[in-house]
Amino acid sequence: MSIAVALDGPAGAGKSSIARRAAKELDYIYVDTGALYRTIGLAASRLSIEPVASVEVDNLLDKIKVELDFNDDGEQMVLLDGEDVSGLIRTPGASMMASKISAIPQVRAYLLDLQRDIAKKNNVIMDGRDIGTVVLPNAQVKIFLTASPEARAKRRYKELCEKGMDVKFDDILNDVITRDYNDSHRKTAPLKPAEGCVMVDTTNLDFEQSVNKIISVIKENV
Ligand code: DC
Repeated sequence: MSIAVALDGPAGAGKSSIARRAAKELDYIYVDTGALYRTIGLAASRLSIEPVASVEVDNLLDKIKVELDFNDDGEQMVLLDGEDVSGLIRTPGASMMASKISAIPQVRAYLLDLQRDIAKKNNVIMDGRDIGTVVLPNAQVKIFLTASPEARAKRRYKELCEKGMDVKFDDILNDVITRDYNDSHRKTAPLKPAEGCVMVDTTNLDFEQSVNKIISVIKENV
């Protein structure tokens, strides 16, 4: 039987970089489920479809094909109707669209089997918001990775400053707090710790310490 690690938590807690590295060390596949929502968001914006529950969104889901593929290094690619859109979904506009599209129940239902199917066939660390609560409630390991809003905002601020962007710390902190509120208060599959999950707080941990912590939680539970 394959091993599933469900990794949930708010944006900016470092889930993807920590999980990618832990997966590499354990020889599991790292699955970034946010990419799926981003891809459907991209499909909707290409056709100028408003990201609200509607017949148009239903029709879109009937028409498109979203697939995940993994190269020999275990790196994930996301395909929209056969086109690799892994790079195109990483813009601020795509983040905004993904956030809106992910609140639509039909979209969440559409992606459920695809996510479960990957976990059935592979050892995975699956990163998202509802993996331990909805997608893989029977995962052997469930982790809720978090950090204080200030710590997450500080990391993001540093990252953007290093890219030469002129940003204000208070704006980023407000963004983090707003996004937390939206993610945890939406009707369908809100962000919340799964029953029986291990809480990992990275506020006072650096990257290496966070990776080691995740690996030890996984090893203790499988
Ligand atoms: O993790 P990310 O920033 O790439 O996610 C993009 C959006 O998709 C984000 O607004 C949260 C949402 N999402 C979700 O609702 N459920 C998931 N399992 C993964 C992401």
